[in-house]
Amino acid sequence: MAQGQTARDENELEHELAAMLDIERFEPPAEFVKHANLTDPAIYEQADSDWQGWWASQAERLHWFKRWDQVLDDSNPPFYKWFTGGKLNVSYNCLDRHVEAGLGDRVAYHWHGEEGEELDITYADLLDRVQRFANALKDLGIEKGDVVGIYMGMIPEVVVSMLACARIGAIHNVVFGGFSAESVRERMEFSQAKALITVDGAARKGNVAPVKQNVDAVMGDLEHLKHIIVVRSKGTECEMKAGRDVWYHEIVAAAAEVCPPEEMDAEDPLFILYTSGSTAKPKGIVHTTGGYLTGASSTHQNVFDLHADTDTYWCCADVGWITGHTYIVYGPLANATTGIMYEGAPDYPHRGIWWELVERYKATIFYTAPTAIRACIKWGAEHPDRFDLSSLRLLGTVGEPINPKAWLWYHKVIGGERCPIVDTWWQTETGAIMISPLPGITATKPGSATRPLPGVLAEVVDEHEGKPIDQGQGLLVLKRPWPSMLRTLYKEDDRFVQVYFKKFGIDTYFVGDAARRDKDGYFWVIGRVDDVVNVSGHRLSTAEVESAVVACESVAECAVIGQSDELTGQAITAFVTLQGTIDGTPEIEDEIRAGVAERIGKFARPKRIIFADDLPKTRSGKIMRRLLRDIAEGRALGDVTTLRDPSVMAVLEEKIQAEQAAEES
Ligand code: WT7
Repeated sequence: MAQGQTARDENELEHELAAMLDIERFEPPAEFVKHANLTDPAIYEQADSDWQGWWASQAERLHWFKRWDQVLDDSNPPFYKWFTGGKLNVSYNCLDRHVEAGLGDRVAYHWHGEEGEELDITYADLLDRVQRFANALKDLGIEKGDVVGIYMGMIPEVVVSMLACARIGAIHNVVFGGFSAESVRERMEFSQAKALITVDGAARKGNVAPVKQNVDAVMGDLEHLKHIIVVRSKGTECEMKAGRDVWYHEIVAAAAEVCPPEEMDAEDPLFILYTSGSTAKPKGIVHTTGGYLTGASSTHQNVFDLHADTDTYWCCADVGWITGHTYIVYGPLANATTGIMYEGAPDYPHRGIWWELVERYKATIFYTAPTAIRACIKWGAEHPDRFDLSSLRLLGTVGEPINPKAWLWYHKVIGGERCPIVDTWWQTETGAIMISPLPGITATKPGSATRPLPGVLAEVVDEHEGKPIDQGQGLLVLKRPWPSMLRTLYKEDDRFVQVYFKKFGIDTYFVGDAARRDKDGYFWVIGRVDDVVNVSGHRLSTAEVESAVVACESVAECAVIGQSDELTGQAITAFVTLQGTIDGTPEIEDEIRAGVAERIGKFARPKRIIFADDLPKTRSGKIMRRLLRDIAEGRALGDVTTLRDPSVMAVLEEKIQAEQAAEES
């Protein structure tokens, strides 16, 4: 607890939160509004009446070597182009121009290691490191347009690597450190990466994972992959293959100091980021230079009400996801922000570490996922209460719908009832936040992302005809292009059109989420309508997990569903039939979980495995996941008459009931 406070009574807190559930809306706090950048609601109408002009004004936030000729080229939808003819460099925008403006000594990141190591990296430091590493990449023969993989945890070199690629026009492809080496291999193969930047080992709650060894075990000989660059981070043993592997520190030491930024076209790709779709093959989301950075910079400024000279901003996502790309790296750096970068987990070395760091660095803005908030609730308010959180002035959430109780806890326990909460809805594909309050203008409602940002046109439409629904539930769509939208799926243009622009026509972006609008026009995002599961804000496709499970030796067939989970939002349940006459045992469950960890990553392991004799299938052999969802969640079964063998469900039901009875006793 902060000095002078008495311990909070959890029961009392529970009652206070329950009483607050009746509050329908929270106006922006007067004290906050007094200092907010944006306070005039007319901004929405103004942006709406000339949305291209609005985005052009946001592009003015950046430095352009050459201004654009045209704001939006929509001559070949849905392949939109923004700021055509414009030339810029992302690393120049994130670093050089701030140093040139005299901000070289400003801290870009207070980096904090898992074991308490600390490093303050200034803009001048970062520029120096990026130029040297960019030259080192060039020395290896990496050129503009080449794809470079990045696979490491939350260490400063990950940011340096991304910016060094951006500096020379190489396209980075970051793979989240929690993915398995197998997933890295697959993503390197799909993107035909020429180099991979990785680490010897990574910190994992007091242990060290031998990352390079794991990579070596599966990488084999990828024809395109010429170099593996290894950051010596933890001193973990690893082999260096002659002719392919080099040490980061060695090539950097040998590289020249100055590397002029490459003048990139606005539409040149900046990065690829693989994300899960409806099929087992991940989608390579392509983001470009000018539009993406415009969206990142604009939304980071406006949604977080950034005051770059006084704020200390902390987004505690991982750089390996889009949230990290846009709101740890590109948005904040483009805006000359001082940020916090934390290497570790929220419960290591203790369950109050986040709040200790908020106090230590006097964080003013804090951005996390609902699942993390729910974990903090479970651990108890005693942890945040031990620290002084009075520096905080704005809170944010992202990744999944937030349940009102978690929202209120965040508001009260972390925000001290003085901080607005921005619930930000967006996707890997949108590149930047699309639906969110503007904290000095928009009243919030717990559980709603409120309304689309200026310039964005979102609608809820009915499933069949795509007609707008004013109030009530339907499918979320976006009706106008926006600068930070994905441009395509890497080397899969047809799939891009098919997935996002087929359902309701070429001018309607199909989001894949169900949503509802209320009487005030506020949006309430409900969740995915496709076979995508959201576990702790991590996006997974059921097909991807199924193929990992089926690859296990004893498994014959598998169907995966997302089941609601109090802590993680959704959790994975796998229905599994086994080969021949093998019976399901705890050992086989272990084998399945280990198989999924190896093929995808630990975070994708099924929480629940249900062994079945058979799975419910239609006469054409399609597995009916809807029925599996009903049965797993204990709901009454819908129509089973279309099943080839309706008795399958009765057997399953009996089995699940027996399981539950055993658990309860
Ligand atoms: C899906 C996108 C965008 C960064 C993190 C996830 C869900 C995201 C919210 C929110 C309700 C949300 C949607 C979306 N989602 N933010 N504030 N409220 N749902 O990126 O992995 O591309 O997943 O996350 O279902 O489609 P992603």
